[in-house]
Amino acid sequence: MGTQKCDLLVHSAAQLCVIPPQEGGPQRGARLGDLGLIEDGAVAIAAGRVVAVGPSREVRPHFDATREIDARGKVVCPGFVDPHTHLVWMGDRAAEFEQRIAGATYMEIMAAGGGIMSTVRATRDASVDELVAAMRPRLDRMLAHGTTTVEVKTGYGLETAAELRQLEAIVALDRIHPVTLVPTFLGAHAVPTEYRDCPAAYVDGVIHEMLPAVADKSRALGLPRLPFCDVFCEDGAFDLAQSRRILEAARALGFPLKIHVDEFATLGGARLAVELGATSADHLVTTPPEDIAALGASQTMAVSLPCTPFGLGYTAYTPARALLEAGAALALATDCNPGTAWNESMSFVIALACRYLRITPAQALVAATLNAAFAIGLGERVGSLAPGYAGDLLLLDVPDYRHLGYRFGVNPVALVVKDGKVVV
Ligand code: NIG
Ligand code: FE
Repeated sequence: MGTQKCDLLVHSAAQLCVIPPQEGGPQRGARLGDLGLIEDGAVAIAAGRVVAVGPSREVRPHFDATREIDARGKVVCPGFVDPHTHLVWMGDRAAEFEQRIAGATYMEIMAAGGGIMSTVRATRDASVDELVAAMRPRLDRMLAHGTTTVEVKTGYGLETAAELRQLEAIVALDRIHPVTLVPTFLGAHAVPTEYRDCPAAYVDGVIHEMLPAVADKSRALGLPRLPFCDVFCEDGAFDLAQSRRILEAARALGFPLKIHVDEFATLGGARLAVELGATSADHLVTTPPEDIAALGASQTMAVSLPCTPFGLGYTAYTPARALLEAGAALALATDCNPGTAWNESMSFVIALACRYLRITPAQALVAATLNAAFAIGLGERVGSLAPGYAGDLLLLDVPDYRHLGYRFGVNPVALVVKDGKVVV
């Protein structure tokens, strides 16, 4: 049998984690955690995609590779996918961190005009170039920590022109940075101060002005599909009826949906997500049993953000085991933002998830790759090393995948490959 040309062949990995989809979808419920582990594994990449994966002795003889990487003693896994971030911000909120340590709650600070609004004031007038410059080092750190695809939300503009600049900055950075950025419109992140006495008018503006403007801008920017539309459904932000109005309007325009639900208060947002066919429901801390059951019976991805309670010094985390028992498809994300969780590292998220969500390293790794990709509609393209998937992979300088989770506070990523090219 002859050999086939390929661009990159990574071989001799102590453990290679393929992370196969299940029936073409995410790994759900009790079946979460199938790594498709191959010892002494190899993966071949051509034209940016995986063309073969298997034991080194079976894969190597078939390929004539332009570049080979010996992964002896290391773990190889797909690049991390971070499906929930707020990377477009200016300003600084270190003082709020100190206020919270002194006893103020996150929502108290927000109600007093700080929190999200303080970042909005600092971010609103920034130009696209300034926004790109502020985001770039955060994205560089994400890539260095192994994230190769990331969702990024607007939501620190809260007026049409500023929201559009944030969208434009996300798209611009996607085009010049190795990491793939997936945009989300979060005009309903907070009711801006100037609408405090008439929140309904702000909701009307989101529906009648911002959503059509975002759709137009997306087309003008040449995006292949509309961004996600997200809402912060929470006491002090948008209630269930307002969230429903915005999301129904977005859906009617063709936006895929996401919702921040049950971060602090329980408003029924998880069931709304299911009812509207949202791609994901995110946070899920105070989610009641009936909403867990609804998520478990749905296609809506359950996205947990353990850096958020950790970042706030809280002790309540996503009831992940109950979600898995209900059959839900669990994903993990950083929620990287200046208020509750400034962290760029998915391996740190995995370490928190193992301890506080009580899931295994294997479950957490799938939740941070394949399932995270499904949470942003890319589960058929990234998050796995099965043939046909993007050639996005990591060499981890650890002998066993369980060192993900077990260890924390240092970066295990030794090498990052994106679309078949070494980028770190
Ligand atoms: O996901 N919950 C809403 N948004 C962020 C916090 C944003 C901020 O405080 O700036 C979150 O926790
Ligand atoms: Fe968030």
